[in-house]
Amino acid sequence: MKDHPFSLDLGSDLSVTGSGPYDSHLVRKLSDLRGYFADRQAFEELLHREDPVIYEVLEIRRPEVSGELLSGLSIVHPGRVGDEYNMTKGHFHSVRETAEIYYVLKGHGLLLMENEAGEWAAEEVVPGRIVYVPPCWAHRSVNLALGEDLITFFVYPGHAGHDYGSIASSGFRKLVLHVDGGYKVVDNPAWKPPAGPG
Ligand code: F6R
Ligand code: ZN
Repeated sequence: MKDHPFSLDLGSDLSVTGSGPYDSHLVRKLSDLRGYFADRQAFEELLHREDPVIYEVLEIRRPEVSGELLSGLSIVHPGRVGDEYNMTKGHFHSVRETAEIYYVLKGHGLLLMENEAGEWAAEEVVPGRIVYVPPCWAHRSVNLALGEDLITFFVYPGHAGHDYGSIASSGFRKLVLHVDGGYKVVDNPAWKPPAGPG
């Protein structure tokens, strides 16, 4: 873990294979994402043929306490499962009152967001754009470019934590599908309201 001031060069450290300044490297393959894509049949057919890497996360480790900032690179590889673009699992922060910033370095995508009050947002991004994810909004990165990685640099509070369970059981309210040569944000027919406490 880095405990002195440090700097890093995002311009030259975009390569996942290089040693880079990152402390951890998380790889999410298709088989890690069972239940996340809407077209279950397309998922199983693709998995039967291959188990591609869908996304990777490179993190700069710091203590997970308030006052710290956690940061790193999120890399969503291009591809689709059925008509649905490759995407991250998506999550709320366990401490709901924590925000996040994404800075887009490469590619073309959507930051899909929703809150527990039923609002949703889809910010289309290209390199140079920043997305502010407010406290209490779940967020997911979607790669819309079929031939290029979507690479973002993220920063969020050290004590935020991750709640994957809510999205894993309810899904996002919206799906991002490839339709007629472009993308479309549509209602998720399988979305269900989160189970209440108890
Ligand atoms: C951290 C954050 C990103 C994501 C990354 C992978 O709070 O939002 O670093 O963790 O884009 O997505 P998930 O975590 O949803 O698998
Ligand atoms: Zn987050």
